[in-house]
Amino acid sequence: MASALRKKMIFLLVIICLSWVFEVEARVSYDNRAIIINGRRRILISGSIHYPRSTPEMWPDLIQKAKNGGLDVIQTYVFWNGHEPSPGKYYFEGRYDLVQFIKLVQKAGLYVHLRIGPYVCAEWNFGGFPVWLKYVPGIVFRTDNQPFKAAMEKFTQKIVNMMKSENLFEPQGGPIILSQIENEYEIVENSFGDAGKSYARWSANMAVGLKTEVPWVMCKQGDALDPIINSCNGFYCENFLPNRDNKPKMWTEAWTGWLLKFGGPAPYRPVEDLAFAVTRFIQNKGSYINYYMYHGGTNFGRTAGGPFIATSYDYDAPLDEYGLTREPKHSHLRDLHTTIRLCEPALVSANPVRTSVGRKQEAHVFNTKSGVCAAFLANYDPQYFVNVTFRGRQYGLPPWSISILPHCQEATFNTARVRAASLDVKMEFAKKFSWESYTEGVPSTDDMNSFVAHGLLEQLNVTRDTSDYLWYTTNVNIRKDDGFLNYGDFPILKVSSAGHALQVFINGELSGTAYGRLANPKLKFSDKVTLKAGINKISLLSVTVGLPNVGLHFEKWNVGVLGPVTLEGLSGRTLDFSKWKWSYKTGLEGETLGLYSFKGSSSVKWAKGSSVRKEQALTWYKTIFDAPEGKDPLALDMSSMGKGQIWINGQSIGRHWPAHKASGGCSQCSYSGTFLENKCLRGCGDASQKWYHVPRSWLRPKGNLLVVFEEQGGDPTGISLMRRTIQKD
Ligand code: GAL
Repeated sequence: MASALRKKMIFLLVIICLSWVFEVEARVSYDNRAIIINGRRRILISGSIHYPRSTPEMWPDLIQKAKNGGLDVIQTYVFWNGHEPSPGKYYFEGRYDLVQFIKLVQKAGLYVHLRIGPYVCAEWNFGGFPVWLKYVPGIVFRTDNQPFKAAMEKFTQKIVNMMKSENLFEPQGGPIILSQIENEYEIVENSFGDAGKSYARWSANMAVGLKTEVPWVMCKQGDALDPIINSCNGFYCENFLPNRDNKPKMWTEAWTGWLLKFGGPAPYRPVEDLAFAVTRFIQNKGSYINYYMYHGGTNFGRTAGGPFIATSYDYDAPLDEYGLTREPKHSHLRDLHTTIRLCEPALVSANPVRTSVGRKQEAHVFNTKSGVCAAFLANYDPQYFVNVTFRGRQYGLPPWSISILPHCQEATFNTARVRAASLDVKMEFAKKFSWESYTEGVPSTDDMNSFVAHGLLEQLNVTRDTSDYLWYTTNVNIRKDDGFLNYGDFPILKVSSAGHALQVFINGELSGTAYGRLANPKLKFSDKVTLKAGINKISLLSVTVGLPNVGLHFEKWNVGVLGPVTLEGLSGRTLDFSKWKWSYKTGLEGETLGLYSFKGSSSVKWAKGSSVRKEQALTWYKTIFDAPEGKDPLALDMSSMGKGQIWINGQSIGRHWPAHKASGGCSQCSYSGTFLENKCLRGCGDASQKWYHVPRSWLRPKGNLLVVFEEQGGDPTGISLMRRTIQKD
């Protein structure tokens, strides 16, 4: 009897111990060296892939390529405005199927770092905030404000609960090992004074209170409360120090390139410099690196932030916009990761000892008590090749490079010696199209969908961002005795707009256009306009090009024609239209009719053959085409077009604006290790973006509908479908 009891007790004890061990093992924690997963300190290599910037059909391949590139973690933001397009109405399908994306990462055997934000910046429309949030009474964004905090908490909770119910956090057996709340808040914190500080604290406590059982990160947040880890974002982060001794050194955004804007040159970052920056971070005790972006992808539809963020979010990332490996970037980094992996046992256990081995050269040695050793030999000189002596042996170091010695003997990798081959990727012509056109008129003031108001209205307040377009229309009566009519000179129309683009139509004819600049989206139109005696219709088409994603006080941002709007040069009088009666219409006629869809496109009569309009503003083009054979990614070469939007089978592939050429600021890279000097820019004088990704999965073999809306005028016969091909010798 006693022995049976003893057996039972021992059995129970074993069970308790086992469950205790299991609990301890299944936890994600950290110390000052690294993130600890299942009891093991890890050097984690991560890469950002934002799920809505590619199609679900592309996800498995992107994730696999990331794994092949030596990544352990996939990092993504969560895109609030994509998931909650109107209050309480959630969307988690298609490109927004977050759970599916995370499960695919898990299936590939990788971890996830989920940056919930829900402010994400990310060159994403309105920084990820739903535009309806701007109209919640009393709201002030990103500070200690009750309506804002309530909405933020509700969404964060929604996401956390969703992840929990799918068992996606690591302690539940899922892949999520880290989360993030807010994003680079410290940059704006001080401008909110004490309210900023209390909001930062509240965000931290709110997040921790959600009990995800995995660590939370606040990037660029020097005052991040325990147990939240603050981390670094930048081109270089080796000098970053966490705000407490017990936290690991993490780099949440190692920029692999940079974002592209319409009107701006194309940023790029040589892999030698990126590998150097990453290795510098590792040799300085860094233990988590995330490539931002590993795959940038595409800002489909109207998701691009702004103003003027391009549709391509290629980012010069190791996987290009189309999902092909960018070489030698991808493979050189893979080789680096393989080498770092060899050093991992030393890196997570020892503190590095730094010694000088030359004027601008250092050795960083990780030597454990058990004799495991890894060394890094760094040459910070951006110009000169240097020979250094380390432990009695000579090592040649190219300029601006680090050699890694996984066992402190053989240098098996140098950041500047790129062994991986380049891949010749080209755009090859696939086909042209035969077009039909439909030119929409400017709306009449008694348009069914318009309304009348006195004075000039702020654009977002009217459109709620359901469209880029808002029409402002008014009538002016010109008297026979107005001087210019007699003397053949015309008056000047002046329009001030808060942005981002404007087209002026007089009596239905395009009279002129104006655009905000990259440095300042506000614009002024000032030009002579052709008026006749009697009633003249002035129609202003105000166009947004992505809502800003950075800054303070999102609730106060304005766009559109805020005035004044004046007509000068009439004999003896200047007219100020600013307080006149204006008629407003949101969106284009073609948008209302859904001309981009199969069904909608049959609602108007399209011009064919020689009647197809070219170089005509406000013109819709459509064509039906068969998909080119094969699996190569596809893109439209839009060089012959001006500005507008493109749809394939009813889905928007984004805004096109090839007419906007990259001006100024092109520069060679210069390696001095600071933020600005390392933005390498090219393509000045060319279209900022001439190719527009057409996802294969949006096509069927035959009978695809391609629709282009052209705002300012272009020649559709110049549009080509291109194949992105890897050239093989
Ligand atoms: C960071 C921000 C990211 C992204 C990046 C630039 O400051 O956290 O979301 O906007 O800049 O691509």
